[in-house]
Amino acid sequence: MDKQVVWITGSSSGLGLHTARALGMHGFDVIAGARSFGQGKAVEHCRSLGLDVTDDRSVDAFVQRALQLSGPPDILVNCAGMLVLGSCEEYKIDEIQQVLNTNFLGQVRMIQRVLPLMRDKGKGKIVNFSSINGLLGIPFEGAYTASKHAIEGFSECLALEVKPFGIQVMLVEPGDHQSGSAAYRRHSAGMGPDSPYKAAFDTGTGVIAYDEGHGSDPDALGEKIARVLRRRRIPKRLRIAKFDQRLAVVLHDLLPPWGFERIIGSYYKKSKGPNPLKERGTRDE
Ligand SMILES: NC(=O)c1ccc[n+]([C@@H]2O[C@H](COP(=O)([O-])OP(=O)(O)OC[C@H]3O[C@@H](n4cnc5c(N)ncnc54)[C@H](OP(=O)(O)O)[C@@H]3O)[C@@H](O)[C@H]2O)c1
Repeated sequence: MDKQVVWITGSSSGLGLHTARALGMHGFDVIAGARSFGQGKAVEHCRSLGLDVTDDRSVDAFVQRALQLSGPPDILVNCAGMLVLGSCEEYKIDEIQQVLNTNFLGQVRMIQRVLPLMRDKGKGKIVNFSSINGLLGIPFEGAYTASKHAIEGFSECLALEVKPFGIQVMLVEPGDHQSGSAAYRRHSAGMGPDSPYKAAFDTGTGVIAYDEGHGSDPDALGEKIARVLRRRRIPKRLRIAKFDQRLAVVLHDLLPPWGFERIIGSYYKKSKGPNPLKERGTRDE
């Protein structure tokens, strides 16, 4: 049988890298896209191409080149993403636009390019990376949480529309994983030393960094996605998270809103140790 062709975005680091590698090792023909691939970075078991999902011309160039290399994809995995931590009051509007442009519109751009190719084939699988934050909100991740809620809603609509063409849509909803990227999380330029949110922000982002640093194994996530994608029928949602994060989603839906807010609010007020994000890098700048 011919190798299944996968195009995957955001595969130069973190969960995208682990997923691309696992897919390659499972015998998929993987075309991996990310901005840094254009600067010579590569990933084993895959062919890599430069791709900026926020730039229409870059997306078009990626599609043209990927078509020459592999032909039309059987599977699209939309993993590219970014996170800017900040208070809803103080985010710069262009920071929110950048997060939405990468995490939501970046996925939409890729979906719109591959759908005609998949409709021609009469089949295809589209995998959109969401997050537990696509299902509930936590403090200081307002822009990211908005982008992930957007892709949740869009994917539900998409699945209904493309089913008659034999195309399936799956949302991946990871909890915290040790992607190694925590140290690079950007802080909003609006979060100055005099911010009224400063103390809550330092504690809250410390909890976020701790949870990611003690999160699940990204190799296991890549393996799970690769195994699921070998099936003829794929689930609508693949939630890959520790018990407490899965429980949070259940409580979010079951409890009265004030009850859930009280639990999640107090969780992010309790420090878990020194905050590594205070000495942050600036990967996306
Ligand atoms: N890590 C977690 O715990 C976690 C939890 C829930 C959901 N997720 C989701 O999983 C995905 C990966 O997250 P991660 O934490 O593993 O992140 P990460 O290590 O920061 O990786 C982000 C990837 O996206 C790429 N990227 C960023 N902007 C891009 C752009 N404009 N065009 C193309 N590629 C771009 C980056 O590559 P270049 O810089 O080379 O472009 C990189 O490969 C994201 O969608 C994230 O929301 C992660």
